[in-house]
Formats: sequence, C-alpha cells, structure tokens
Amino acid sequence: MITVDDVAFLRSRHGIKALEYAAGLALAPDTLIADVAELRTRYGTRAPALAETVHSRRRAVGRLREAQNWLLTEEALQQATTQVVAAHRAAEIARRFPGAVVHDVTCSVGAELVELAHTGGIGGVIGSDLDPVRLAMADHNATGMTLLRADALTPTSTADVLLADPARRKGGNRTFRLGDFSPPLIDVLTTYAGRPLAVKTAPGIDYGTLRAKYGFDGQVQVTSLDGGVREACLWTELRDGINQRATVLRIVDSKLRVEEITDAESDDVAVGAPGSWIIDPDGAIVRAGLVRHWAARHGLWQLDPKIAYLTGDAVPPGVRGFAVLEQVPMKEKALRKALAARDCGSLEILVRGVDVDPDELRKRLRLKGGAPLSLVITRIGARGVAFICEPGWRQPG
Ligand SMILES: C[S@@+](CC[C@H](N)C(=O)[O-])C[C@H]1O[C@@H](n2cnc3c(N)ncnc32)[C@H](O)[C@@H]1O
Repeated sequence: MITVDDVAFLRSRHGIKALEYAAGLALAPDTLIADVAELRTRYGTRAPALAETVHSRRRAVGRLREAQNWLLTEEALQQATTQVVAAHRAAEIARRFPGAVVHDVTCSVGAELVELAHTGGIGGVIGSDLDPVRLAMADHNATGMTLLRADALTPTSTADVLLADPARRKGGNRTFRLGDFSPPLIDVLTTYAGRPLAVKTAPGIDYGTLRAKYGFDGQVQVTSLDGGVREACLWTELRDGINQRATVLRIVDSKLRVEEITDAESDDVAVGAPGSWIIDPDGAIVRAGLVRHWAARHGLWQLDPKIAYLTGDAVPPGVRGFAVLEQVPMKEKALRKALAARDCGSLEILVRGVDVDPDELRKRLRLKGGAPLSLVITRIGARGVAFICEPGWRQPG
C-alpha cells in the first residue's frame, strides 16, 4: 500500500529518477516478480510504490489528462472519472453556474479537479477527501489547488457548487444499494440540501426509491461514453422541468459528439411491425428510461411496448443499427436452417426480453459458413422472435 511517505519520495528528485527507471521495466505478469526484485535492490522499500505507480500510469493513458505524470493507485484509478466525462461535467457546471467556485468533497487523486481547472468560466476549485494519501497525490496531480483533509459530511466551504462522488465499490463488485456508498449517498444529499450539488453515482441505483422514499426532486443524468454506460449524476438544483436526462458521448474521428435527450421531450411513439432496421438504443437512454423519447425524436417505433429495441426505416446519425434480412421464429431448427442458407460463419447475438444465453446458442447453431451476420432475439407480446440482420452504421450528421 502506498503511504504518504512514499508519495513524498515519488515527488522528490530521487523519486522522479526512480520512476523513470521503473518506467523502463516491463512489469508484465511474467516479469513482475523479477522486476520488483530489481527495484527492491535499487530502491529498497519504495519498490512496490514505484511498480504500482508505473503500472497505474500505463493503465490511465486515455482515461486521465497527461496520465504519464500522475501519482495514483490502482484503486484510485478504478474509481476516477474518465477525462472526457469529467470535462463534460465541468463544462456543464461552468455553463450553468458561471464564475462559480466548485468544491469537490470526495476529490481522491483529483481527476475531476484537474478537469474543473482546465475549464474556462469556473471561478475557483477546492478539493477535499478523508484519505491523506490520495490528498497528497491530488496535491501533485492538481498543482496549485486548495486542498484540505475533511469529512464530506461536514460542510467546510461556502463554495457555490458542490461535487461529490461517493465510493461505490465493495469487495471489487459494483454496488447499487443506496446505503452502500462511502460516504452514504443520502447523507451527502442531506448535508448539502439547498445548495447546488452534483453527485456522481452508479447508473444502476434505484431512482424511483430515491425520489419516492428520500424526496430527491432534482435531475438524474445518465452518461455513456462510446456505448458504455459510465455513471449517473444527481443534480439537486436543476429544476428546468427535466427529471431524467441521458447524455450520450461518442468520440468520432477524434471529435467528441454529444447527444442529449430528456423527459421534457415527447414520448409519443407507436408500436408496430418491424421496419427495415432494428436499433438497440444506447445504454444511457435505456437506463434513464428515455427509450420512447429518443424513438420519437428520430421517427422510430417500438416492436413491443415493454422492450427497448426500436425499429424504423432509417438509422439515426452516429448510431449502429441492424438491417433486417429476415424474421425467423425463435426455434433453433428454423434458425440453423435460415443461417446456413445465408452461409453464416460468425454471428453477433443480441438478446432482450427472452432468456437465451448467446454463447450457448451460438455453439448449438454450429455455424460453418463464411458470412458475418447479426441475430437480434426478442419477444413481441409473448412470442419469441429472431431477426437475422446485417449490422450498419450511419455517419454522424
Ligand atoms: C470514488 S472516489 C472519488 C473519485 C474522484 N471523483 C475522481 O474522479 O478521482 C471516492 C472518494 O471518497 C473518499 N471518501 C470516502 N468517504 C469520505 C468522507 N466521509 N469524506 C470525504 N471523502 C470520503 C474516498 O477516500 C475516495 O477518495
């Protein structure tokens, strides 16, 4: 475990040289023991801290700004907000609260602090955390920022906007119960009641309970990046008629594309027969409960009112869709025959609303051809259906 003393060493001239040396080692699974032994002969008890820092920096590339310079631990990296998402939140804070001083009350090693500092229009940034090692690391990563060791459940500043990101991993598993966060989610909301607060949390928490039982009346924003759902953010003081919001971030040709959809938009969509395409909405849209709203925006309709797959005659810009070649009853014999007739060799299987294990099904289908195809399995009413498809993608407009 990295200590405050280790951090001081890693920041010293000798430590910087030692990190340069360690960065030249493979530190791969098959060399790790020998590499750490070598570090130990040169740098004694600092060897584990050197190895962990170099390894974490390598894993942080693409996730943190200038990752090669960070001081961090494996666990802090796992918990850190990815740069693109943190930068997007910082820009929203600057837009909604121009000139605000922002206090990140669970700042850890500073991933959000760094992005706040890089965003124009923010008046000042304060960071605090209970963990002295992480604070020492944040002092290195977020140079020149006001940092203090403080309990997030005791207000310590008069900042205009508060940001919190309670830790939500227990024993390595994601946890979605409201009480399982550290500091507890509800306590954070209570502590800062009446002040603008953004709380990053797990996308799988129960928003219904949060509103009905704990009286949360702000906005829930679910964010995805490149198709993976990253987080939910609870905004306490945003009351612009929106309860649920999905933010879909995609990097296309090195540029950030953003699509936002909210429950203030119409959700008036039909249920009907399949069109030329089947579309699986982004996970942020599904988690935010905005599938119908997004369908209405793009002229799509539902195959079944309870299933998130959508259908239509065109794919929305920037979205991957599945061009329907054939609809087949969800019977393995019929599927095997239809796929063999299309010379199918590899098959991507998507499933919603029916109990099918894609890997097991793929094995049983015994595909022997050369063509890559997709299979969308779902139910319409009580009836299982399968669509043999070709995947397609429409360039963002
Ligand atoms: C998920 S991490 C925050 C990650 C940070 N947002 C980032 O992007 O790097 C949660 C942090 O909360 C801190 N923490 C836990 N309980 C706390 C409390 N009661 N007061 C202040 N910080 C606390 C932990 O030490 C940890 O650094």
